Amino acid sequence: MTRNIKGIILAGGSGTRLYPLTMAVSKQLLPVYDKPMVYFPLTTLMLAGVRDIAIITTPQDQSQFVRLLGDGSQWGVSLTYLVQEKPEGLAQAYLIAKNFLNDADSLMALGDNIFFGSGLTDKLRTATQSDKGATVFGYQVTQPDRYGVLGFNDAGEVNQIIEKPNKPPSNLAVTGLYLLDKTAPAKAASIKKSARGELEITSVLNLYLEEGQLSVEKLGRGYAWFDTGTHASLLEAGNFVKTLSERQSVQIGCPEEIAFDQGWISADDLKASGKRLGKSSYGEYLRALADASGAP
Ligand code: TTP
Repeated sequence: MTRNIKGIILAGGSGTRLYPLTMAVSKQLLPVYDKPMVYFPLTTLMLAGVRDIAIITTPQDQSQFVRLLGDGSQWGVSLTYLVQEKPEGLAQAYLIAKNFLNDADSLMALGDNIFFGSGLTDKLRTATQSDKGATVFGYQVTQPDRYGVLGFNDAGEVNQIIEKPNKPPSNLAVTGLYLLDKTAPAKAASIKKSARGELEITSVLNLYLEEGQLSVEKLGRGYAWFDTGTHASLLEAGNFVKTLSERQSVQIGCPEEIAFDQGWISADDLKASGKRLGKSSYGEYLRALADASGAP
């Protein structure tokens, strides 16, 4: 049976590690080379086939997101805007989005996480067919102590998730993409804040683990994963996007192209978007795509 999966992009937070860049602008609106950061988690969800998406922002930044993304109809998706009053943890997203989700399963992407890899779409689509309550995506990192880290038993099954451990049980970090079933809001409501005052996503994931309902998909060496929360990682992600897109003359994280490929918008829509985007190389790219598809 096909699952009813709604999307969440968590794009609030305080972005203190990027000060002074983020003192007046939301982190998730900063440029990653040629696009606002939020385009990347948005297109990750679109690639997974998710079309009904809530964007959670701070109260002060919401209007800018609306200005940039609108209601999503230009990409054949529906965008709903929700507010997180204070950044009280990733798991709070499920409380804020409870009514929006309305008992649907969800795929949540953190607003500052960028995923890239040719097999990603297949992997996401396969994960959405899984009958496990939760699927997370593990990525091997050099400094696991900065992340939520997965531990495994001798049979290779996940048996623990620890947030920012002093002694990481493995070097596999939990990335900012969470496929959770409809019990996520109830689970998020049942957890307590951690010592740092946050509702931790790790606590929610541990509830799935206790129920034997957590599955881990490893993103191996064919994938890139960036969390763009620091100055260096933001630049690194930008350089990665620049190198790939210039080398192959393709766009990374282009919602118009993905919507067109999925059949959610027509070649005429693509052409109209290309016109709206004017002289930018992005606009040119969209017009070329429309032309190549035989649009009049
Ligand atoms: P973080 O990078 O952990 O936090 P942050 O963005 O507040 O940044 P900093 O540590 O520099 O102060 O957050 C990961 C993502 O989740 C990011 O896109 C912001 C978002 N977020 C929220 O929207 N609400 C929250 O309560 C938290 C903790 C994060």
